[in-house]
Amino acid sequence: MSTSVTVDLGARSYPIVIGSGLLDGGFDLSTYVVGSDCLIVSSETIAPLYLDALKADLGDKSITSMSLADGEAHKTVATMELVLDKLVESRANRDITLIALGGGVVGDITGFAAACYMRGVAFIQVPTTLLAQVDSSVGGKTGVNHPQGKNLIGAFHQPQIVLVDTDTLATLPDRELKAGLAEVIKYGAIADVEFFAWLETNADALVARDAEALGYAVRRSCELKAEVVAEDERETGRRAILNFGHTFGHAIEHCQGYGEWLHGEAVAAGMVMAAMLSDIDRDDVARLIDLIRKLGLPAKPPKIGVDAMRNAMSMDKKVLGKQLRFVLLEKLGAAYVSSDVDADRLSLTLEVLG
Ligand code: NAD
Ligand code: GLY
Repeated sequence: MSTSVTVDLGARSYPIVIGSGLLDGGFDLSTYVVGSDCLIVSSETIAPLYLDALKADLGDKSITSMSLADGEAHKTVATMELVLDKLVESRANRDITLIALGGGVVGDITGFAAACYMRGVAFIQVPTTLLAQVDSSVGGKTGVNHPQGKNLIGAFHQPQIVLVDTDTLATLPDRELKAGLAEVIKYGAIADVEFFAWLETNADALVARDAEALGYAVRRSCELKAEVVAEDERETGRRAILNFGHTFGHAIEHCQGYGEWLHGEAVAAGMVMAAMLSDIDRDDVARLIDLIRKLGLPAKPPKIGVDAMRNAMSMDKKVLGKQLRFVLLEKLGAAYVSSDVDADRLSLTLEVLG
């Protein structure tokens, strides 16, 4: 059984197909492969689990595959080059389709390689972490990290389809599942207070991996993301709200060393910092902190130091005219972007929490 959410981008529209039993022959992915050849890019952890099952969805397509080293520390230009090398070595043409099988790291690298090879070839996202299913596989942001900052090198490049088999979550470690829940909370906090309340009610079911609850959380998150992306594909405005908690979160990840804190954990603590910076009811900040804790996520960043945090935040992609811009809450369920942040309040947030 599956449902589909459309990312409505005119000629570049695509479906996010969400369901159980979609791998292992449960879905005909071959119709989304542009030519006859595809390259599946996965990782040393995920390929042994799901590569054969994915191949079973590709009919008579000619398939090659490769596995990348696992983890955020490998989300680099050098790793992306390995994908390009493979494409060149195999003399891949413009009608090759790349398929990303894995979490956000594999998806971001593969999508970026697809955006660059021959100035752009087709790609498909098959996300296997909760975070990738609700966020990174949707919306066409692709890229890699630079030693000076997160996701500094990349391109917008939309996939042909996002195929979400929620059964893959069964093998996902608990810590990774919880990291994905941080991005789920984000959608409730910035765009849908009823969904936020649903998360409060269903927190235990989500942590216990209740299939129905997880399925609904994935679908609602994808709907909310698809709506924002359709409105502002290239982040000239509203899309920036999807970065709620990320200005602080990226700085935490950068300062800690990639891979120490998971992306979702850093975003969780970052959302609390952004909420504290917002001019909202303190009860709403308390609700956010409670939900984050209930889902087993950190509500406080590690001790990093104010100067290091400020320095890392200065490389944030939302900085314009040398001015930091933050995603703030107007109230729970509504967010906006502002550079008009009280300097004392920012210092206090960084000192108290950073
Ligand atoms: P990840 O890709 O590193 O995956 C986390 C871990 O889970 C890895 O060790 C992976 O091997 C393992 N794993 C994946 N699927 C599994 C499964 N089904 N069973 C067992 N193990 C599995 O991390 P992530 O949290 O998926 O993604 C984080 C990345 O996504 C960050 O680099 C972040 O910047 C990026 N991101 C991008 C966007 C975007 O819009 N492009 C949005 C949010 C996050
Ligand atoms: N994860 C933020 C975005 O896709 O815009």
